[in-house]
Amino acid sequence: MTAPAPHIPVLAEETVQALAVAPGETHVDGTFGAGGYTRAILSKGVARVFAFDRDPEAIQCGETLAASSGGRLTLVPERFSRMRQALAARGVEAVDGVTLDIGVSSMQLDQAERGFSFQGDGPLDMRMAQEGESAADFLNHADEAEIADVIYELGEEPKSRRIARAIVAARPIERTGQLAAVVRKALGHHPGMKKDPATRTFQAIRIHVNEELRELEGGLAAAEQVLAPGGRLAVVTFHSLEDRIVKRFLKSRSGSLSGGSRHRPAANQAGPAPTFEAVAKPVRASEAEIRINPRARSAILRAARRTAAPAWGAKQEGAQG
Ligand SMILES: C[S@@+](CC[C@H](N)C(=O)[O-])C[C@H]1O[C@@H](n2cnc3c(N)ncnc32)[C@H](O)[C@@H]1O
Repeated sequence: MTAPAPHIPVLAEETVQALAVAPGETHVDGTFGAGGYTRAILSKGVARVFAFDRDPEAIQCGETLAASSGGRLTLVPERFSRMRQALAARGVEAVDGVTLDIGVSSMQLDQAERGFSFQGDGPLDMRMAQEGESAADFLNHADEAEIADVIYELGEEPKSRRIARAIVAARPIERTGQLAAVVRKALGHHPGMKKDPATRTFQAIRIHVNEELRELEGGLAAAEQVLAPGGRLAVVTFHSLEDRIVKRFLKSRSGSLSGGSRHRPAANQAGPAPTFEAVAKPVRASEAEIRINPRARSAILRAARRTAAPAWGAKQEGAQG
């Protein structure tokens, strides 16, 4: 088994600043990972942190930190879209801050056994929670059009049909190395290419298998429900599909969406009151951070403050109830 590289937190300082973490508060870290954000939040003297992760391995790795936190850190092996129910089950109705750092951790990516990466060879798995349909299950059973749609929509890959055809012709596909080779052959791979041709396809399949966009929508709606008036939300994303969801959510909930929203009231009809205000300008990593951690290049942080208005989003909450 390959040893997982430690995950370097991205935009951690900026995120903690956006959360305006103060002593005595209660916070949710929706994506514990290697605990980088949680450690930074704990260091500000908060009373409690509830740290969620759907990956049992991440939760297990956090046990030492929880044990040394003096009872301040509670690890929650759950999807962040279910944070309201999980907090309620622990007697917590409202929190002062929620942070989400979307995507996979370096530990997940770098362990070939988890099947996320086209760089090493491993079983074609890609499941963060290690349950449900794996990437191999999906690719070996879905029809060609569905595979093409997933690669096109979630990978923004213009040559998705060609890739889907090659995948179906090569079935069964059980290993990440095999999938990477099929995609590279379908698209043409030249040594010295800046980006591996398999990048977009792997991203698309990972997002599909883990329902990541639905989870993000559910997580934002859940944050709206659990944040106390004045509570802060900070979300870091790594690609445009995710950032678009966060941007639209904050625009819509702060009452500044210019049309096209299913939440937008018809003209001259009073809509629900804004649930977020003080929407901050997006923050990107500095050149210095990108030099140390190239993964930070695509990161975008968005943040806002909860108003006292009732949540709009009960219906959107939870990708799976
Ligand atoms: C980018 S890493 C977070 C890194 C973390 N901020 C740190 O500093 O170490 C994302 C983590 O979120 C977890 N995750 C992704 N989607 C999730 C979801 N819907 N619910 C709970 N955890 C999720 C992944 O398993 C992964 O461990």
